[in-house]
Amino acid sequence: MKDVLILAIESSCDETSMSIVKNGKDVLSIVVNTQISTHEKFGGVVPEIASRMHTENITMVLDETLKKANVSMDDISAIAVTYGPGLMGSLLVGVEAAKTIAYVYKKPLIAVNHMAGHIYANNIENTMEFPILALVVSGGHTDLVYMEDDYKFEVLGSTLDDAIGETYDKVARVLDLKYPGGPNVEKLAAQGQPTYKLPIPMNDNSLNMSFSGLKSSIINLVHNETQRGNTINKEDLAASFQTVAIDELTRKLSLALKKVNVNQVIIAGGVSANQYLRKEVAKLLENTNIKLLVPSMIYCTDNGAMIGAAAYPLYLKKQFTTFDLNATPNAKL
Ligand code: KG4
Ligand code: ZN
Repeated sequence: MKDVLILAIESSCDETSMSIVKNGKDVLSIVVNTQISTHEKFGGVVPEIASRMHTENITMVLDETLKKANVSMDDISAIAVTYGPGLMGSLLVGVEAAKTIAYVYKKPLIAVNHMAGHIYANNIENTMEFPILALVVSGGHTDLVYMEDDYKFEVLGSTLDDAIGETYDKVARVLDLKYPGGPNVEKLAAQGQPTYKLPIPMNDNSLNMSFSGLKSSIINLVHNETQRGNTINKEDLAASFQTVAIDELTRKLSLALKKVNVNQVIIAGGVSANQYLRKEVAKLLENTNIKLLVPSMIYCTDNGAMIGAAAYPLYLKKQFTTFDLNATPNAKL
């Protein structure tokens, strides 16, 4: 069969990224234009600024992606794009760009769910072997997803309130750490001990999770101690938070593994970059036949290659989309 080269576009949040992926696995080029330094000043992503910056950057990112892979549009088999979930204005820029490129160059268009992208990031350097249990952990999602086969997603449990990444970001803010908070909280936690007593969220047998109580207890603790003139040991508080939060994830993952038989567990989404989480999940799977897949750092946070990887099974099934494709901020798996 002729090689399939997918030009994939990701712009759901604050990264303008494109990639050319060959046969769903081989990343010929990847360009990630991140807006972190702009949003950092505001302590979080400002949607209006994000979409404006995507508009400014997208043609430059396209040129660079083609140049790096040393291919022309003639070589491209299809255009893939994230249609949701994400920020409306950000998604729109990618979707409109994808539709324009597909129309002008007469290429099929593939709509990819952002969370499917995070999951299929695990198929780039490894090979996904079903059935799989995916722990999807990002700024907007915390889900346990069972996959019997390609594109057969069954959400077994989810957060009932805040997502884990969002919680890391809020805790970072109260500890005066820069956005995005996750990596900064992780760094601080590595220097501390879990000495603070924090409430254990959703200590039950369901597969759902909760992080807002944990977040509030940390915000209250910091406020109360500050008002009393006491100093906070930030390293210890970060370590205490991380221990409780990651324990909630691994405990629910462990419960899910009692319900489904799988070949692999995969960790997907921005928080999969967290080394403590990786270590704890690896510990859980010790002495089992279940293999753990985690993407390399570049494929953990938002990037175009994961969209190209997720688009490939859709290309093979000829699941193309029409030009009335719209950005869908609340798209479900
Ligand atoms: O997947 P992603 O890039 O964007 C979304 O789809 O949301 O995830 C971003 C989230 C942010 O909340 C960020 O703080 C978190 O992932 N994150 C981390 C780490 N690296 C990124 N959280 C904990 N530890 C990390 N090392
Ligand atoms: Zn993401």
